[in-house]
Amino acid sequence: MNWRDFWNRENPIYVNERHRALHYDRIARGIADLVEAPGWSVLDHGSGEALSADLVARRCALLYLFDAAPNVQAKQRVRFENNQKIIVLTNESQSAIPDGSLDMIVANSLLQYLSHQEFEGLLDVWRAKLKPEGKLVLADILPTRPDALADVLALLHFAWQGGFFFAACAGLVATWFSDYRQLRASLGLTGYAESDLRVLLSAHGFEGTRAPKNLGHNQSRMMIVARVKG
Ligand SMILES: C[S@@+](CC[C@H](N)C(=O)[O-])C[C@H]1O[C@@H](n2cnc3c(N)ncnc32)[C@H](O)[C@@H]1O
Repeated sequence: MNWRDFWNRENPIYVNERHRALHYDRIARGIADLVEAPGWSVLDHGSGEALSADLVARRCALLYLFDAAPNVQAKQRVRFENNQKIIVLTNESQSAIPDGSLDMIVANSLLQYLSHQEFEGLLDVWRAKLKPEGKLVLADILPTRPDALADVLALLHFAWQGGFFFAACAGLVATWFSDYRQLRASLGLTGYAESDLRVLLSAHGFEGTRAPKNLGHNQSRMMIVARVKG
């Protein structure tokens, strides 16, 4: 099994429905705040189910959702079939986004599941799809040496505030015995140092700056806002 197979199945990442809903709500509000004008076209790459994508769509003209997992795509199609501003992409149709047409691309919690080579390939695709003044937002980026304790504490803090603390405690135990942990041990997750990431972005035509806050609840992870280099 690889990460794509993992995300194509039901998975234990969210400890309950409340966690799932609060997570997607927070991410959608964060992305919506990054939209600078109502006419923007936005791509959420590696979007997951994007339960609250309608909050983003309200702030822009067009929102493309792309997730590599076909089962995730199928759920998105059902959820957003009546929302004219949301286009759910498939593996085939993602190339139909016209070059130079996007104002912003967001990839939240995606880079850790990509090899360096996959990521570099995507940077070139994204650069082609963005307008010259376009913005690339990479968020929830793991450091090179992830801090498991910081991850646990961040989840418990989020859970305490969100009213699912005891479910989160049970979820942490379940994760310990889950195939997520086994996969993480066998496949690993890709992390980046800020300086290395900026060099990589520059090599692919972007200039990146670290944002003061991450989109998600875990502030030990990094968010980078990059612009196409002039
Ligand atoms: C941790 S989830 C993040 C989902 C969402 N961005 C969020 O913040 O909640 C990672 C998602 O990336 C998707 N994914 C993994 N590799 C991908 C790729 N190469 N292209 C697009 N999506 C990918 C997975 O299917 C999964 O839904």
